[in-house]
Amino acid sequence: MNIIELKDITKTYRRGEEDLPILRGISLSVEEGDFVAIIGPSGSGKSTLMNTIGLLDVPSSGSYTLDGVITEKMNDNELATLRNQKIGFIFQQFNLLPRLTAMENVELPMIYAGIPKKERRERAQAMLTMLGMGQRGHHKPSELSGGQQQRVAIARALAISPSLILADEPTGALDSRTGEEVLELILQLNAQGNTIVLITHDHHIADNAKRVVALRDGVIIDDYRNSEKRRQGQEVSV
Ligand SMILES: Nc1ncnc2c1ncn2[C@@H]1O[C@H](COP(=O)(O)OP(=O)(O)O)[C@@H](O)[C@H]1O
Ligand SMILES: [Mg+2]
Repeated sequence: MNIIELKDITKTYRRGEEDLPILRGISLSVEEGDFVAIIGPSGSGKSTLMNTIGLLDVPSSGSYTLDGVITEKMNDNELATLRNQKIGFIFQQFNLLPRLTAMENVELPMIYAGIPKKERRERAQAMLTMLGMGQRGHHKPSELSGGQQQRVAIARALAISPSLILADEPTGALDSRTGEEVLELILQLNAQGNTIVLITHDHHIADNAKRVVALRDGVIIDDYRNSEKRRQGQEVSV
């Protein structure tokens, strides 16, 4: 079963009189349980593609089916509801709300999902504990290190048991050792069956994904499975 089905997606912005094509016909299917790294130079459309997959942005043309749900004709409210049900986001800058505690940040998507308070608290605590942050629930983001904040953000993304986890440069603001820890967490989540689509500039992270999709100038220029690439590499060297 494909969790993501993008067909001929385009996105064009207008700047003054000029049309700026950003995505120029993207077709992409992602299987449930996969771990896809999207790579490409700055400005190639990675974040625009991610925002489209995340239902944060509507394409100019093309069709998008998320977890069996056809999204084209949905209005903003329907898109927001679907997004809140299906997708957990992890961002480069964590995007935690500064006035809320770690616990309250993790609870937030569950409030949108209508989960009652007691269950919310329990799940938030369980998620924070799973990420090694069980003792830090009462801390504000500013009282936590970058790596700790990203753990809280991952707990928040997982709290609603999303069908899909989307991450835009999740290690981009972290030092390399903390980045490695976050990568290990993401690999664990994938091993537990979570589908992950992640944007990265980091070849080490792309090498650890199952599949790599390369963008340039708004089109897919390469798409391969690391396992097959490794096998090919071995055949060449034998
Ligand atoms: N709202 C917008 N209006 C106009 N141009 C935009 C907008 N958002 C992104 N762009 C342009 O689209 C291109 C691709 O951006 P983006 O998807 O962020 O690329 P990437 O994430 O690969 O760096 C860039 O040239 C950027 O300036
Ligand atoms: Mg980007």
